[in-house]
Amino acid sequence: MVGFKKLSTALTILFSISSSNAFYLPGVAPTSYNVGDKVELDVNHITPSMRKQDENSVTYLYSYDYYFEKFHFCEPENGKQKQSESLGSILFGDRIFNSPFEFKLLENTTCNKLCTTNYPKDDSIFVNKNIRAGFQFNMMIDGLPVARTLVDAKTDDIFYSSGFNIGFDDEENLPHLYNHYDFFIEYHLRSDGTYRVVGATVNPISIKYIDPDEIKCEFDEDSIIEPVRLSEEESTDVTFSYSVFWVPSDTAWATRWDKYLHVYDPKIQWFALLNFSLIVIILTIIMSHVLFKTLKNDITKYNEVNLDDDVIDEMGWKLIYGDVFRPPKNPMLLSVLVGSGIQILLMALTSCFLAAFGLLSPSNRGSLATVMFVLYSLYGSIGSYYSAIIYKFFQGQDWKINMLLTPILVPGGIFATFIFINFFLIIVHSSGAVPLGTMLVIFLIWILVSVPYSCIGSLLALKKKAIVIPVKVNQISRQIPPQPWYMKTQYLSLIAGIFPFGAIAIEMYFIYNSLWFNRIFYMFGFLLFCFVLMLITCMLVTLLLIYFSLCNENYNWQWKSYFVSGGISIYIFLHAIILSKLNLGGLTSVVLYVGYSALIATIVGIMCGTIGFLSSMYLTLHIYGQIKVD
Ligand SMILES: *[C@@H]1O[C@H](CO)[C@@H](O)[C@H](O)[C@H]1NC(C)=O
Repeated sequence: MVGFKKLSTALTILFSISSSNAFYLPGVAPTSYNVGDKVELDVNHITPSMRKQDENSVTYLYSYDYYFEKFHFCEPENGKQKQSESLGSILFGDRIFNSPFEFKLLENTTCNKLCTTNYPKDDSIFVNKNIRAGFQFNMMIDGLPVARTLVDAKTDDIFYSSGFNIGFDDEENLPHLYNHYDFFIEYHLRSDGTYRVVGATVNPISIKYIDPDEIKCEFDEDSIIEPVRLSEEESTDVTFSYSVFWVPSDTAWATRWDKYLHVYDPKIQWFALLNFSLIVIILTIIMSHVLFKTLKNDITKYNEVNLDDDVIDEMGWKLIYGDVFRPPKNPMLLSVLVGSGIQILLMALTSCFLAAFGLLSPSNRGSLATVMFVLYSLYGSIGSYYSAIIYKFFQGQDWKINMLLTPILVPGGIFATFIFINFFLIIVHSSGAVPLGTMLVIFLIWILVSVPYSCIGSLLALKKKAIVIPVKVNQISRQIPPQPWYMKTQYLSLIAGIFPFGAIAIEMYFIYNSLWFNRIFYMFGFLLFCFVLMLITCMLVTLLLIYFSLCNENYNWQWKSYFVSGGISIYIFLHAIILSKLNLGGLTSVVLYVGYSALIATIVGIMCGTIGFLSSMYLTLHIYGQIKVD
């Protein structure tokens, strides 16, 4: 039943987005409150965080439910309730529940007792381990994360860092659990007399209560607090409490996210990027000029000379006109990969674009992931269309296999990786494990909606005339002369990959931070810029190398262009593995890290490979269409 409900929700989202012109995302409308209204605090999963690395710190990469039994956090009196979430939100690990905290607008209350719980020694060991690893609470009020106030050391700006640690290490490296929370909720009084929540910060305290019925939680500057210590030898009783203070604020609702979206030293980033883009732009101009001129010269020369014996040596790429359009080995696989690449590329560009222009608000949790999922399915038919067109270009005959393989191979690979990783998450009781029902829904959407929908694209392509090949393919294939060692595909990949990687290397840090440590990623304008820069660099480098390769009379450009351009994935993977100085805790963290890094590297590789192939295809069609052959 639950699965069915989710399926229908997902389908509604799918259809409402595909059928409406205006891009409307629900859930971002502001809530207005009156004095005394109840304001809900929801609790999300408990996530690992990036902390200062020293020798004994271990990092875990998976999260837990707030109410995971070993944590023993207080539950609401009427039992915990799961809040409804979008598909994207579930996929990205949000697990939102209601909480026992009771807030009424503008009513300051102090030292409210939540509950007293008993920690058996095994659970104390578990909690202490996670305090040391820097696990964090993720609470939300009115869609805003509860944050700590931090000061940027460089600029002295005050900003909010969402989430707060579940405990702290003292000087002697002993972990202490936070059991009292001082919440400061900022409200904004509107001209119509209603109130809106515009910020929430917390000051967590660890305090050992002598008598759980007599909570004293207010202190002077110099009072000494004895913190809670969970004993690993015997069971410990801990009482939880909280206070709430309502603080007036000038921040309007529309700008309430600004403080959360703090960019550390944006100048450096822009500087690095401008530097880099300047180099790319200059390179682009020089390279396209040189390439264009050389090609033009080549074409004029080729069309003038007679095929004398003495000029034949200098003929370069014209010599192989009878072979350039010889279909590559495995035309099926290449056309499927290119089709899937187009699908992913369009999805990534569109979602980046929507996010960069602020259409995906951070208060709409998981909207980015949902939009990505929906767009990916929608672009399926475009991907299949081009897959079939390319397959025809390769003179392939098994169009039915192509039609089925395109929506199955790459999405299936991604899905299989998720299932594999999910298996490890289940073992460690992580909340990041996607529930079986959701998995089933995704599988059903894929098989019942996405695959048939993609087939429409293939069928449309079937009706279209094939791309005209400008020169006929010779019956007998020409022998490829020995090539210099550095023209081998693997070396070219290594050379070509490093340039586009330079374009996105800075972004990788932020992407990983948001992926592993639940940080909000919001610099989408920046990302979009880097992404486009990466694609342009890929394209240019590949065109140049393929041109050289053709001049060397090597006509196997199809796979070569794909791999050369996809060379960036080597660097992305190595960067993730070598440069991460994370001291990962346990097999699951390692599998998660390596698995997702490989997945990201592969997906970027598929996108770049596709760009490289398509531009090389354009190049060959263009230049061989210009020369005269008998
Ligand atoms: C509640 O506490 C805050 C912070 O201490 C204070 O600024 C505010 O005036 C208090 N509100 C009321 C109604 O007492």
